Amino acid sequence: MYDLTPQARDRLAALQRTFEEASAHMLGYPVNFNFDYDEILPFLNYNANNVGDPFHGTNYRVNSHDFERDVVGRFASLMRLDPEEAWGYVTTGGTEGNMYGLYMARELYPNGVVYFSQDTHYSILKILRVLNMRNIMIKSQDNGEIDYDDLRETIRINRDVPVIFMANIGTTMKGAVDDLRQVRAILADLAITQSYIHSDAALSGMILPFVADPQPFGFDEGADSLAVSGHKLIGSPIPCGVVLTRKDYVSRIARSIEYVGVMDTTIPGSRNAWTPLMLWYAFEKLGYEGWQDIVSSMLEVAGYAVERLNDSDILAWRNPNSVTVVFPRPSPEVVSKWQLAPYRNIAHLITMPHVTRDMVDEFVDDCLALAAG
Ligand SMILES: Cc1ncc(COP(=O)(O)O)c(C=O)c1O
Repeated sequence: MYDLTPQARDRLAALQRTFEEASAHMLGYPVNFNFDYDEILPFLNYNANNVGDPFHGTNYRVNSHDFERDVVGRFASLMRLDPEEAWGYVTTGGTEGNMYGLYMARELYPNGVVYFSQDTHYSILKILRVLNMRNIMIKSQDNGEIDYDDLRETIRINRDVPVIFMANIGTTMKGAVDDLRQVRAILADLAITQSYIHSDAALSGMILPFVADPQPFGFDEGADSLAVSGHKLIGSPIPCGVVLTRKDYVSRIARSIEYVGVMDTTIPGSRNAWTPLMLWYAFEKLGYEGWQDIVSSMLEVAGYAVERLNDSDILAWRNPNSVTVVFPRPSPEVVSKWQLAPYRNIAHLITMPHVTRDMVDEFVDDCLALAAG
C-alpha cells in the first residue's frame, strides 16, 4: 500500500552513483573499501541488540554476545593480552574506545593527569572535556612521535599526581607510534608508582600484530587499555571498533541493572549486534594468515607510493610499519578528487587494501598535471 515515490527512488539511485564514484577515488582516509559481508546480511532483518556487558547474560535474547566475546578474545590475543584476563566490547568506533579507556583511567586514578602529544587525534581533547580530566599536551617530534624529553620534564614537575598516558599507536596524520618502552622507562626513572597507559591503536592496531618488527604497542608493553577501529583496516559499512582492558579493572565500574538483566559496564546501553558479527566474520574467513597477507601488501604499496612520489620530485616519506605516506599539500583539485585529508602544509595518502599501484600512478600523474599555481 505504501511505497516510495519515483522521485525518492531517483534520489536513492543518485546517492548510490555518488558512493560508487567517490569510493573509486579514496586515498586520504584510513578506511578499507574491500569487503564482502553478503553472507551475514540476513542478520540485518532482526531487531537485534547487544545491550549491556557481553560477558554477562541479558533478558533480551536477540543478541550476538557470544560472537562479540569471540571478537574480544581474538583482539586480546592480537594485542598481547591473555584472553582469560581480557574484557572488552565492540564499540561505535575509535572515539568511544578511547573514551572508555580514559574513563577507566579516571575511575582508577580520579586525580590523575592525562599526557598526550600534539599529534593526538582531535577527539581526545573532546573526551577529556567530557570526562573533566586534567590534562597536559606534550610537544611532538617532526615525525609525529611524542617528544620524550618534554614528556619527562613535564611529568617530573607533576610527580605528586598519577600519570595517565594517552599513547598514539599510529597518529592520524603521520602514522607515528609513541614508544611505550621509552615512556615506561621515564615513569620508572621518575619513581612514578601510580600510572595508567591507554593505547589509541585506531589503525595501527590492525597492522603491528602482523609485522615482523612491531614497535611496542600492546598489553605486554604496559598498556592498560587499548582501542582499535573496525571500519578502518577491516572495513565495514557501519563504523565500529573494539575496546579492550583487564577484567579486574572493569569490576570497579560494573553496576547490575535488573529490568534488562545486564551488567551496565559499557558506555551505551543498546548496542549494535551486527558489527560484532561482522568483525567475527572478517576474522573467521581470512584468519591470521589472510590479514597478514593484506597488511604485507598494504606496506608494499606504501613503499611503492613513496618511491613514485620521490621519483617525481615530490618529497614523500613514511614512518616504520606505516601505510600513511606524507608529502607536501598538493593543489585543491588533487585534494578534492582523491579525498585527501590535508593539515596545514602537509597531506597524506593511506594505502588501504583497496589502493592499488594503478591508483598510486594515477594520483602521481594528477599531482604533476594539476600542480598548484
Ligand atoms: C588515531 C585516531 N584515533 C581516533 C580516531 C577516531 O576514530 P573514530 O572516527 O572511529 O571515532 C581516529 C580517526 O581517524 C584516529 O585516526
